Amino acid sequence: MKIAIASDHGGFELKQKMIEHYAKQGMFFDDLGTNSTESCDYPLIAKKMTDAILEKKADMGILICGTGIGISIAANRVKGIRAAILYNEDVARLTREHNNANIAVFGGRMQKFEDVVKYFDIFMKTGFSEENRHQKRICELDE
Ligand code: RB5
Repeated sequence: MKIAIASDHGGFELKQKMIEHYAKQGMFFDDLGTNSTESCDYPLIAKKMTDAILEKKADMGILICGTGIGISIAANRVKGIRAAILYNEDVARLTREHNNANIAVFGGRMQKFEDVVKYFDIFMKTGFSEENRHQKRICELDE
Protein backbone atom coordinates (compact mmCIF):
# COMPACT_ATOMS: atom_id res chain seq x y z
CA MET A 1 0.00 0.00 0.00
CA LYS A 2 1.47 3.35 -1.11
CA ILE A 3 0.59 6.19 1.27
CA ALA A 4 1.27 9.86 0.51
CA ILE A 5 1.22 12.70 3.02
CA ALA A 6 1.00 16.46 2.48
CA SER A 7 0.25 19.58 4.48
CA ASP A 8 0.24 23.32 4.27
CA HIS A 9 2.25 25.39 6.79
CA GLY A 10 -0.54 24.99 9.38
CA GLY A 11 -0.10 21.23 9.29
CA PHE A 12 3.65 21.05 8.76
CA GLU A 13 4.59 20.17 12.34
CA LEU A 14 2.02 17.41 12.60
CA LYS A 15 3.09 16.04 9.20
CA GLN A 16 6.70 15.77 10.34
CA LYS A 17 5.67 14.08 13.59
CA MET A 18 3.53 11.55 11.74
CA ILE A 19 6.33 10.76 9.25
CA GLU A 20 8.74 10.17 12.15
CA HIS A 21 6.27 8.14 14.22
CA TYR A 22 5.25 5.78 11.42
CA ALA A 23 8.81 5.39 10.06
CA LYS A 24 9.72 3.87 13.45
CA GLN A 25 7.06 1.24 12.75
CA GLY A 26 8.39 0.59 9.24
CA MET A 27 5.61 2.52 7.50
CA PHE A 28 7.00 5.07 5.06
CA PHE A 29 5.00 7.86 3.44
CA ASP A 30 5.65 9.66 0.19
CA ASP A 31 6.03 13.27 1.38
CA LEU A 32 4.47 15.70 -1.12
CA GLY A 33 5.32 18.79 0.93
CA THR A 34 5.17 21.48 2.12
CA ASN A 35 8.70 21.51 3.45
CA SER A 36 8.66 24.32 6.01
CA THR A 37 6.40 26.52 8.11
CA GLU A 38 6.52 29.23 5.43
CA SER A 39 3.02 30.22 4.35
CA CYS A 40 1.61 28.36 1.34
CA ASP A 41 -1.81 27.69 -0.22
CA TYR A 42 -3.75 24.60 0.84
CA PRO A 43 -5.65 24.24 -2.51
CA LEU A 44 -2.33 23.68 -4.30
CA ILE A 45 -1.20 21.16 -1.71
CA ALA A 46 -4.50 19.30 -1.96
CA LYS A 47 -4.08 19.15 -5.75
CA LYS A 48 -0.68 17.46 -5.42
CA MET A 49 -2.35 14.79 -3.32
CA THR A 50 -5.43 14.29 -5.49
CA ASP A 51 -3.22 14.06 -8.61
CA ALA A 52 -1.08 11.40 -6.89
CA ILE A 53 -4.17 9.36 -6.03
CA LEU A 54 -5.85 9.70 -9.41
CA GLU A 55 -2.57 8.83 -11.16
CA LYS A 56 -2.27 5.81 -8.81
CA LYS A 57 1.06 7.00 -7.44
CA ALA A 58 -0.62 6.67 -4.04
CA ASP A 59 -3.39 4.36 -2.81
CA MET A 60 -4.24 6.45 0.24
CA GLY A 61 -3.39 9.92 1.48
CA ILE A 62 -3.02 12.01 4.59
CA LEU A 63 -3.76 15.74 4.28
CA ILE A 64 -3.22 18.28 7.03
CA CYS A 65 -3.87 22.00 7.31
CA GLY A 66 -4.48 24.15 10.38
CA THR A 67 -8.10 23.13 10.86
CA GLY A 68 -8.41 20.27 8.38
CA ILE A 69 -11.28 22.18 6.78
CA GLY A 70 -9.73 24.07 3.86
CA ILE A 71 -7.66 21.18 2.61
CA SER A 72 -10.60 18.75 2.82
CA ILE A 73 -12.87 21.15 0.92
CA ALA A 74 -10.22 21.41 -1.79
CA ALA A 75 -9.62 17.66 -2.03
CA ASN A 76 -13.31 16.78 -2.08
CA ARG A 77 -13.92 18.91 -5.18
CA VAL A 78 -12.10 16.28 -7.19
CA LYS A 79 -14.12 13.37 -8.56
CA GLY A 80 -12.97 10.06 -7.12
CA ILE A 81 -11.62 11.66 -3.97
CA ARG A 82 -13.26 11.01 -0.61
CA ALA A 83 -11.39 12.96 2.06
CA ALA A 84 -12.59 12.68 5.66
CA ILE A 85 -11.58 14.59 8.76
CA LEU A 86 -10.99 12.01 11.48
CA TYR A 87 -12.18 13.43 14.77
CA ASN A 88 -13.04 10.32 16.78
CA GLU A 89 -12.54 6.55 16.71
CA ASP A 90 -15.98 5.72 15.31
CA VAL A 91 -15.60 8.24 12.49
CA ALA A 92 -12.16 6.82 11.63
CA ARG A 93 -13.74 3.36 11.21
CA LEU A 94 -17.05 4.38 9.65
CA THR A 95 -15.56 6.58 6.97
CA ARG A 96 -13.66 3.55 5.66
CA GLU A 97 -16.58 1.13 6.04
CA HIS A 98 -19.27 3.41 4.60
CA ASN A 99 -17.53 6.08 2.49
CA ASN A 100 -14.45 4.12 1.38
CA ALA A 101 -12.52 7.31 2.20
CA ASN A 102 -9.17 7.46 0.43
CA ILE A 103 -7.73 10.47 2.30
CA ALA A 104 -7.51 10.95 6.08
CA VAL A 105 -7.53 14.63 7.03
CA PHE A 106 -6.32 16.24 10.26
CA GLY A 107 -6.25 19.72 11.75
CA GLY A 108 -2.67 20.33 12.78
CA ARG A 109 -3.60 23.21 15.06
CA MET A 110 -6.69 21.51 16.48
CA GLN A 111 -5.89 17.89 17.24
CA LYS A 112 -3.62 16.14 19.73
CA PHE A 113 -0.90 13.96 18.25
CA GLU A 114 -1.97 10.91 20.34
CA ASP A 115 -5.50 11.20 18.95
CA VAL A 116 -4.29 11.63 15.39
CA VAL A 117 -2.25 8.40 15.43
CA LYS A 118 -5.05 6.52 17.21
CA TYR A 119 -7.56 7.56 14.53
CA PHE A 120 -5.16 6.96 11.66
CA ASP A 121 -4.33 3.45 12.93
CA ILE A 122 -8.05 2.62 12.92
CA PHE A 123 -8.50 4.18 9.47
CA MET A 124 -5.66 2.08 8.04
CA LYS A 125 -6.78 -1.24 9.48
CA THR A 126 -10.43 -0.85 8.40
CA GLY A 127 -11.68 -1.91 4.97
CA PHE A 128 -14.66 -0.82 2.91
CA SER A 129 -17.77 -2.83 3.81
CA GLU A 130 -18.64 -3.35 0.12
CA GLU A 131 -22.33 -3.44 1.00
CA ASN A 132 -24.50 -2.50 -1.96
CA ARG A 133 -26.09 0.50 -0.29
CA HIS A 134 -22.71 2.08 0.42
CA GLN A 135 -21.29 1.33 -3.02
CA LYS A 136 -24.43 2.82 -4.63
CA ARG A 137 -24.00 6.07 -2.67
CA ILE A 138 -20.34 6.33 -3.62
CA CYS A 139 -21.28 5.89 -7.28
CA GLU A 140 -23.87 8.65 -6.84
CA LEU A 141 -21.13 10.97 -5.59
CA ASP A 142 -19.17 10.51 -8.79
CA GLU A 143 -22.22 10.89 -10.99
C1 RB5 B 1 -3.60 28.70 7.32
O1 RB5 B 1 -3.37 29.76 8.18
C2 RB5 B 1 -4.96 28.08 7.56
O2 RB5 B 1 -5.94 28.94 7.08
C3 RB5 B 1 -5.04 26.73 6.90
O3 RB5 B 1 -4.05 25.91 7.40
C4 RB5 B 1 -6.34 25.97 7.11
O4 RB5 B 1 -6.67 25.88 8.44
C5 RB5 B 1 -7.47 26.37 6.27
O5 RB5 B 1 -8.57 25.80 6.33
